[in-house]
Amino acid sequence: MTPKPHHPLNVNGEPRAFFGRRSGKRLHRGQDALFREVLPHLAIAPGDDPVDPATLFPGRRGVVLEIGYGGGEHLARQARDNPETGFIGCEVFSGGIAKLVQQIDVEGLGNIRLFTDDALKLLVRLPDASLDGAYLLYPDPWPKSRHHKRRFVSPVTLGELARVLKPGALFRFATDIEDYANWTLAHVLRTPRFRLAAAAPGDWHRPYPGWQPTRYEQKARNEGRMLSFYFSFERC
Ligand SMILES: C[S@@+](CC[C@H](N)C(=O)[O-])C[C@H]1O[C@@H](n2cnc3c(N)ncnc32)[C@H](O)[C@@H]1O
Repeated sequence: MTPKPHHPLNVNGEPRAFFGRRSGKRLHRGQDALFREVLPHLAIAPGDDPVDPATLFPGRRGVVLEIGYGGGEHLARQARDNPETGFIGCEVFSGGIAKLVQQIDVEGLGNIRLFTDDALKLLVRLPDASLDGAYLLYPDPWPKSRHHKRRFVSPVTLGELARVLKPGALFRFATDIEDYANWTLAHVLRTPRFRLAAAAPGDWHRPYPGWQPTRYEQKARNEGRMLSFYFSFERC
């Protein structure tokens, strides 16, 4: 099959498969209604058309992306604390999407738009230098070596992130899994378009300013993994 020009490819130039979970427990009735009535107003349409972040948020200053927001705790907090900024959230898991849509509805957060498919499919539709920041927080670690290629961080996704971030913008990556931290450092440091933004060694164990712990961070702590890596990579 010949992929469409914008179809996400892996490093070998083949269409990239997606391995995450899209649905879990059935949505309850209220969530079903939010999907029908609220989500369509927030959702970025699927497809191949270019997406211009600036036109998604007229009148706001700057647009920030969060990939794999889970239950949306961090994204909702960011949107609440930075009402002048637009936020795009990408998540595929219906339970997580429902949770954030509910939060947006209850709080009337007007500066969030959602993409409900593989984040890479959105990245390839964004113009060069169109984002002011990006977060990837506690991504699925895929711990087995034979599954490492399923990790979100790859030369392809980093290439796209470097392309869509403005010079000086930060790509923020957090994990409690040391092997994934090393993997990400190794991949990022191989691209000359990012540099590790740390004033001193060990800075990366300090949460970002205005940090909102996520569900997976809490899960890590409950399971005894007390140390996280909070990397900030600056787009050069
Ligand atoms: C381990 S969870 C972490 C969720 C959240 N960031 C947290 O810290 O609680 C990873 C999340 O990323 C989502 N995800 C995985 N791959 C994705 C992709 N390619 N595009 C969008 N979301 C993705 C999963 O559905 C899952 O909810």
